[in-house]
Amino acid sequence: MYKEVALLYDAVIGEMPYAKWTKDIITLLKKHNHTPKLLLDLACGTGNHLEHFTKKFSCIGVDKSKTMLQIAKTKVDNVKFYEQDMRKLNITEKPDTIVCLYDSINNLKTENDLLKTFKAVRKTLSENGIFIFDVITLKAINEIIETPVQAGSVGPDHYIWHNTVKNNNWHWTFTSFIKTGKNYSMFEEDHIEYYHNVKKLISLVKQSGFNILQTQDSYTLKNVNKETERINFICKKK
Ligand SMILES: C[S@@+](CC[C@H](N)C(=O)[O-])C[C@H]1O[C@@H](n2cnc3c(N)ncnc32)[C@H](O)[C@@H]1O
Repeated sequence: MYKEVALLYDAVIGEMPYAKWTKDIITLLKKHNHTPKLLLDLACGTGNHLEHFTKKFSCIGVDKSKTMLQIAKTKVDNVKFYEQDMRKLNITEKPDTIVCLYDSINNLKTENDLLKTFKAVRKTLSENGIFIFDVITLKAINEIIETPVQAGSVGPDHYIWHNTVKNNNWHWTFTSFIKTGKNYSMFEEDHIEYYHNVKKLISLVKQSGFNILQTQDSYTLKNVNKETERINFICKKK
């Protein structure tokens, strides 16, 4: 569960090329002749994609973590946020576009969790709606653990980040030391990103009532290949 990690997320974990990633998603939507009227960012975290999507579209954000949402709310205006588990997504709006990015789907453990999420997304989408999500590959997981420990400082705060791999799943522990007045508070959070096989994902997405329009390497935007570290799935509601 993302809790105190939220305090250092943007400075440490979230320091990624969100502007490029968002632009790539918009290009992808155009390629499939889809112009979003209402976009839902599922597992939106601290709102790093929303900062860019809101310049183009009306947006909604959903995340399970209160602390991640608290930060997101300070970064974007005119966005309705829901604190919800994506497996039980239940909102009143009918977005035509739902995105779930930066490994958020890898937080789901079982096939049943994936199925519940994909079905909830389908139910939430309007007719012919588009769902784009990404997942991390085994190649990326194995590369991450080449750096088993990372440590650093953000202003007066400090962190240690431990990575291991068990049964192809990426386990990470984030220990933070946050300055509160004259003292430091220590927080430790354990996270697991679960590896999901592509063939299995394709089967579950189809089973949930989607056609897959395309899969692509998230970084190069080319076809998925043995070097691919993150895969985009572009799905259309049947
Ligand atoms: C790696 S962060 C990505 C956040 C954001 N999409 C980004 O690109 O920065 C994963 C996010 O997934 C959220 N999350 C994990 N499991 C979830 C669930 N079952 N339902 C909703 N959100 C979830 C976490 O709270 C966290 O904000």
